[in-house]
Amino acid sequence: MQQRKLGGLTVSAIGLGCMGFSQGYGSVDDDESIAAIRTAIGSGITLFDTAQSYGGGHNERLLARALRDADESVRVATKFGIVRTDAGVGLDAKPERVREFCDASLARLERDVIDLYYLHRVDPEVPIAETVGAMAELVRAGKVRQIGISEATPEQIAQAAAVHPIAAVQFEWSMLWREPEGDIVPAARELGIALVPYSPLGRGLLTATLDSDTVASSDFRRNDPRFTGDNLASNLAQVTALREFAGRLGISAGQLALAWLLAQGPDVVPIPGSRRAGRIVENAAAAAVELSADDLAELEKIVRAEAWAGDRQSFAAHGTARSGS
Ligand SMILES: NC(=O)c1ccc[n+]([C@@H]2O[C@H](COP(=O)([O-])OP(=O)(O)OC[C@H]3O[C@@H](n4cnc5c(N)ncnc54)[C@H](OP(=O)(O)O)[C@@H]3O)[C@@H](O)[C@H]2O)c1
Repeated sequence: MQQRKLGGLTVSAIGLGCMGFSQGYGSVDDDESIAAIRTAIGSGITLFDTAQSYGGGHNERLLARALRDADESVRVATKFGIVRTDAGVGLDAKPERVREFCDASLARLERDVIDLYYLHRVDPEVPIAETVGAMAELVRAGKVRQIGISEATPEQIAQAAAVHPIAAVQFEWSMLWREPEGDIVPAARELGIALVPYSPLGRGLLTATLDSDTVASSDFRRNDPRFTGDNLASNLAQVTALREFAGRLGISAGQLALAWLLAQGPDVVPIPGSRRAGRIVENAAAAAVELSADDLAELEKIVRAEAWAGDRQSFAAHGTARSGS
């Protein structure tokens, strides 16, 4: 698999998003999940993306079990800041909590150091510079190698980078969701920060395997405006065009969606999520797909950015988080 850089880390061009092993997309069996994660390693994947909040710690513990015999090339990225309280799901990125969150993640992950530690959501009650200041102390203490931020605005990214080098920003970006190309992508690039698109398969839509029944079985997609009513019907028509174009190239629709992201620049490292070994292998193989300039131009005409219907439900703007984050 081709390699890319996240700050000082070298990782596979395509990582594995692990959230679905604990929440969001339906039932899971831990033994099958562990086998799927090991299949990912066998496919050349070295970047594994988790979070303290995924399954309330289940995801980090599962990853620890799966990676026990993995070699040094395997990199773990985790996130803090989304917390569950009696009042529901909220945010906490107070500096005094950051070390505690990190120690708890290290214990669940059974590791001495986190390769890439993200602030999952900016806490509206805490200036981002203060949170990042506490994260920088973790780097100095040898508990964290690189710092990242998820779902931040360009202004917040700049404020964070003024405190400590930021290796990566994580945000939703895919053929289905192009908005970051107008602000986050150029802002991060100006600061030399790598881009980690989450939900790169458009929460599964871009794989051309979804229909209204599968959407209804997912606990958060059915609340996402892009997956409901007329919007879904219209978006599925776009996906048909995507699938037909992919077929002409001899690849799957999902592989085309991932190859499109990789073609946006050498600083892009998508983290598709799947609970199934066969699909992980399929997704990893997208790293070998080379799209020509003509392919990319034709794709823009066939699957038009402005033709997608429905807004995404904003996580950051509400200051809260949902199970799909
Ligand atoms: N920073 C954040 O706030 C944030 C938010 C969301 C996600 N994330 C991270 O990003 C990762 C990926 O995002 P995501 O899981 O939301 O969306 P995604 O990767 O765009 O899509 C995942 C969905 O696609 C399906 N899928 C994957 N590969 C497939 C294939 N080859 N063929 C058919 N279906 C396929 C999966 O189903 P199966 O599991 O059944 O294969 C799942 O339903 C997460 O795991 C998480 O690590 C971060």
